[in-house]
Amino acid sequence: MALNALDRHVALVGFMGAGKSTLGRELGEVLDRTVWDVDEMLERATKQSIPQIFEQEGEEGFRRREVATADGLLGSDAPSVVSLGGGAVKSDRIRKRLGERALTLWVAVDVDTAWERVKGSDRPLAQDEVAFRQLYDERAALYAEVADARVRTLEDAVLAAAGIVVEAGALERLGELVPGSGRVALVADRHVAGIWGAVAQTALGNRLASVHELPPGEEAKSVASYQRLLEDLRLERGDTLVALGGGCTTDPAGFAAATYMRGIAWVSVPTTLVGQVDAGIGGKTGINLASGKNLVGAFHWPARVVVDPALLQSLPEQQRREGMAEVVKTGLLAGQPIWERDDERLVRACAAYKARVCLRDPRDKGQRNVLNLGHTFAHALEAAGAYGKPSHGEAVALGLLAATRLSVEHLGLDASVPAQVETLLAPQLVAVDRERAWAAIARDKKTEGGVPRLVLLDAPGSPRYGVELPSDAVRAALDSLIS
Ligand SMILES: NC(=O)c1ccc[n+]([C@@H]2O[C@H](COP(=O)([O-])OP(=O)(O)OC[C@H]3O[C@@H](n4cnc5c(N)ncnc54)[C@H](O)[C@@H]3O)[C@@H](O)[C@H]2O)c1
Repeated sequence: MALNALDRHVALVGFMGAGKSTLGRELGEVLDRTVWDVDEMLERATKQSIPQIFEQEGEEGFRRREVATADGLLGSDAPSVVSLGGGAVKSDRIRKRLGERALTLWVAVDVDTAWERVKGSDRPLAQDEVAFRQLYDERAALYAEVADARVRTLEDAVLAAAGIVVEAGALERLGELVPGSGRVALVADRHVAGIWGAVAQTALGNRLASVHELPPGEEAKSVASYQRLLEDLRLERGDTLVALGGGCTTDPAGFAAATYMRGIAWVSVPTTLVGQVDAGIGGKTGINLASGKNLVGAFHWPARVVVDPALLQSLPEQQRREGMAEVVKTGLLAGQPIWERDDERLVRACAAYKARVCLRDPRDKGQRNVLNLGHTFAHALEAAGAYGKPSHGEAVALGLLAATRLSVEHLGLDASVPAQVETLLAPQLVAVDRERAWAAIARDKKTEGGVPRLVLLDAPGSPRYGVELPSDAVRAALDSLIS
């Protein structure tokens, strides 16, 4: 079974009328992958429509062509999106190739909707309603056999491509959601363990080998805490580490998984809003050094991310506010007022946005930079502050204000956007040393040759990264955040 589409094709299977071609095109666009539609390719190659091929060569002749084409596409190296015809899964060869080379998504549709969409068309297998309904039942078993996940929407497909499950109550299904059958070490923030640990342990059942508690907050990301965790683990190569907590748990636990015995599988179970919309997703793991945050780390994509929005019920209000800054950031990047949605839909949309950016750029070589919207300023304010003042979320809120104001001045962004940031996040000016904050911008990883490289917005939904502006404009924007 495939866990994600990082190094695999995404293959779309499903009954006629399910919308595979449309979903395939949308998915290709958001994942920046070539899209192959097998039916369209056959029509182009033969210069005939599918009904004509059926008529001249019979279903058998059509299937022979379909298998040869799909086989070739699934055998190609560059991960792409492949939309298969409804009957392609009848072939043993195709089913085998899907298992070897693709993450297979079953685009689900109910039979009534499918019939409404295709009745009256020239599709050879949609001429008789009774036969159509019978075929639907027969095929369902084959789709279920090959599918790694069942999807209906683009959001579903992106989440599945990243190995993310978003579902209220998912923690109770943790045992079945941890891939494989090996043993599990549960690593949890001490505080979270006290609230949700029992549910997780019960769900893991007899797969649970050990439980490890980390101190809450950044202390969990110290070298000493990481070393203690490694010393305590008693896992084998085929076992899995499950991290239950916010970013201060998933970061070091994921890093422990990346390095223990040269790398074992891990499952991320984020419990904060920051974790569910950001930190628990995308495979960046790491710890802090005395000289700086996140200075040691690894890319180690979780075998699964289990996002249970119900866990947010116990989250203190201050932690929720921290997360809302990232939610607003994501909404601005996606060009949708995601912040207006209820928790489950909000978390799904943000997780899907982060997933799609990370799937395009898993090793942070370029496009993933957009996720830093507002963060150059935020990091500078945090570096110039002391004792967690401003907090990361407060600093991001201010950073979004600066980035959107600069976008208005230099890229023509609508002035209503920074006003919206003010309304949504009510950022408060901070009392930090201006020179220290400015010096921190110069040290930022994204600064080159003393010129800060910013993420700005042409419009909501259209971020641009690596934007260079005159230093005095950036300095003025930073100064405007400091009281
Ligand atoms: N890897 C990434 O891509 C990435 C992205 C963003 C942030 N991060 C990292 O994430 C860290 C911040 O993570 P965070 O904001 O999740 O903070 P956190 O992990 O420190 O959690 C915040 C607090 O909330 C408590 N808590 C967590 N879940 C709870 C729940 N469901 N109910 C009640 N209390 C709960 C914790 O005990 C803790 O005291 C930073 O170190 C940052 O560098 C990583």
